[in-house]
Amino acid sequence: MAKIDTSDIPSLRRSRFWPFGIALTGAAVVLAAASLAAPVDDKASIGKFEPGEEFPGGTATTRQSRDHVNAFSHFSNGIGFEGEARFKLGNAIFRKEWVSSPASTKASDGLGPLYNARGCQSCHLKDGRGHPPAANWPDDDAISMFLRLSVSPSTDQERQLLKERRVNVIAEPTYGGQLQDIAIKGHAAEGHMKITYEDVPVPFADGTSVTLRKPSYEITDLAYGPLQPDVMTSPRIAPPMIGLGLLEAIPEEVIRANADPDDANGDGISGRAQEVWSLRDRDVRLGRFGWKGGTPSVAQQSAEAFAGDMGLSTSLVPKSSGDCTAAQAVCLDAPNGNSPKPSDPEVGDQLFDLLVFYSQNLAVPGRPNASEPLVLEGKVKFHELGCAACHIPSFTTGEVSGQPHLSGHRIWPYTDLLLHDMGEGLADGRPEGLASGQEWRTPPLWGIGATEVVSGHTNFLHDGRARNVEEAILWHGGEAQAARDAYTQLSKDQRDALLAFVNSL
Ligand code: HEC
Ligand code: HEC
Repeated sequence: MAKIDTSDIPSLRRSRFWPFGIALTGAAVVLAAASLAAPVDDKASIGKFEPGEEFPGGTATTRQSRDHVNAFSHFSNGIGFEGEARFKLGNAIFRKEWVSSPASTKASDGLGPLYNARGCQSCHLKDGRGHPPAANWPDDDAISMFLRLSVSPSTDQERQLLKERRVNVIAEPTYGGQLQDIAIKGHAAEGHMKITYEDVPVPFADGTSVTLRKPSYEITDLAYGPLQPDVMTSPRIAPPMIGLGLLEAIPEEVIRANADPDDANGDGISGRAQEVWSLRDRDVRLGRFGWKGGTPSVAQQSAEAFAGDMGLSTSLVPKSSGDCTAAQAVCLDAPNGNSPKPSDPEVGDQLFDLLVFYSQNLAVPGRPNASEPLVLEGKVKFHELGCAACHIPSFTTGEVSGQPHLSGHRIWPYTDLLLHDMGEGLADGRPEGLASGQEWRTPPLWGIGATEVVSGHTNFLHDGRARNVEEAILWHGGEAQAARDAYTQLSKDQRDALLAFVNSL
């Protein structure tokens, strides 16, 4: 287990905003420091308050209040003076609204021709999660959500690329890997996503019930001809941006050690590592980011977002026309924001590095209620029901070069970053890399209780179909069927306790 630097822990006591009684005495601070190096998953501690768990991001947890719309927008604690300056510059790039070329503002051009949004912040609103369009569609926008597209491989070359993990999917030949529902002037948007919901009642053992909404998706207004008939689609909302540098800092072998692809321990839960191509390492790496773990790093996810979501090139993904395909010649030929030198992408390296640093350093908020009796009661249920088998509470981060504030401390993300079969109810039927059409990567649960205050909604799961935490649980199937069924057997008080725990995260 990595050594930790406890030198900045006493700074907790100086914090203006730190509301937790627990960290206020010297003795408690020492306890918290000791727990960071404690063994993970200590069975005896389940149901008890574990010192340190009120800081989900370890020492990088922000000391700012979580009861504020900016709860996800603070920088990692301990980031340092220079880090703070870089974070602020990165924030400006994250919020930047890009424009099409040619434009007088050379530093911001290159958008499109096809795109889903003008800037990162348009989807990751307030650094939080996106949402499906509201019921009054089409009046409400579908900005913070999009449809990924792909087809089955049809040539040996395509099969080879997939086999070697050099690509995760074969893009739809005309529309590419993603449906862009906006285009710059003079170009046609590819089409629009339409969602309809059907009510599905779910009974509890105590005789009460709730109604889930089951979505179905349709693509309308196709502007470039028909989609290939066997096209596969996957709806995705933008996930929250907190704690990503810490998730990236969990050593690959630690995550792999939790995989149990053949369910050797017979608990009904397998968990597989996603394997994807790293553009930077030019080799296969563990996939950790995205709803199916489709990218290995914050940098690659960001570069692919620039290309796919906004049509902007970076050194990592040097495609100035984004997701335009050969079948969209007008799109490929449109002016772009590259300067004449091929080594000069629309988003320069310096800007890109600042953006990545920012994305790695959005801090996880603290848990002021972690030691409340109801929350601790819910924590017991969380473990009893088997939620913790996938939403693994705690890890210790490894070393992050140049970022000691992210390195070597205990964090509480509540994910194993592995792929699980979640059953037919959640299936998109669209494989991505090693993930099947029914598999999803366990999302981290830290900060989930602050979603409402940050985003003004509580839409969860990959497509935002769940309208609250309870609905999210009730959608679990496949490997999580037993946990979900056990939830429906709980009394109202027990359910409330479990929900109080999840919302305290
Ligand atoms: C059009 C909406 C949209 C825009 C614009 C957008 N994103 Fe995203 N972002 C998403 C969606 C949707 C996902 C999930 C992708 C998936 O599952 O494959 C995502 C995932 C991510 C993730 C991985 C998070 C995780 O928990 O796995 C990071 C990091 C990220 N985006 C960063 C960025 C950055 C940086 C930008 C700007 C360069 C950006 N995004 C622009 C919608 C967007
Ligand atoms: C077999 C692994 C597994 C088990 C067991 C499991 N989950 Fe999950 N959980 C997942 C996966 C994978 C997703 C994402 C599914 C999706 O988006 O379609 C998820 C999503 C969630 C979400 C929504 C998160 C978000 O960001 O949208 C919540 C809340 C949640 N789980 C809570 C629980 C609780 C509470 C339990 C126990 C009753 C539980 N889970 C059991 C794997 C699991």
